[in-house]
Amino acid sequence: MMTCIFDLDGVLVDSAKYHYLAWKALADKLGFVFTEQDNERLKGVSRMKSLEILLEIGKINMTDAEKEEAADEKNKLYRSYISKMTPEEILPGVEDFLKELKSLNIKTAIGSASKNTSLIMERTGLDKYFDAIADGTMVSKAKPDPEVFLKGAELLGSDPKDCIVFEDSEAGIEAAHRAGMKAIGIGDENVLKEADLVIKNFVGFNVKMLR
Ligand code: BG6
Ligand code: MG
Repeated sequence: MMTCIFDLDGVLVDSAKYHYLAWKALADKLGFVFTEQDNERLKGVSRMKSLEILLEIGKINMTDAEKEEAADEKNKLYRSYISKMTPEEILPGVEDFLKELKSLNIKTAIGSASKNTSLIMERTGLDKYFDAIADGTMVSKAKPDPEVFLKGAELLGSDPKDCIVFEDSEAGIEAAHRAGMKAIGIGDENVLKEADLVIKNFVGFNVKMLR
């Protein structure tokens, strides 16, 4: 039975802009410039690893305790942004595709690195479309490790070989393949070269195109 597993940030919602604003506020405070182009490097990357990349850009050293504190501060600001999200922030074409999956009884899960998944799901109303959620609160290994996608399949009782993953990051495509799943890239085909298929977004996308 076909199962669809979705990354959240950058696939279903555009939360990257809030991650950017929150990291930028930290960079401002630390006294260096953090651009939107720099932010591309943080997509799909765990919170701590993101901080490490940010500090490398700013050439700043921190102790582990300082890192914990800085990541915490960023997360508080990020949560203040996403707690104001609305269903209008679901990306184009996504809801139509999720409705089609539901009408065909195709099982769905979230497979996201984010520990803030449940807040975004609630705020946008996306939770009603999903049978299971595997997120950063349940796994210890970040993509490209396949753990989060395998967890999603396990929660649904699905065989990995029947799962199709939707991802906007290279690390996520690799994670899907390492899990023994198919991977559909959302975004630029020159970046997501390893994907089995790349689409720009979900507008006009349907199950027939999957089969
Ligand atoms: C990923 C995002 O989905 O989740 C990353 O693409 C983010 O940018 C990561 O760092 C962890 O998210 P959070 O919400 O737990 O800080
Ligand atoms: Mg993503």
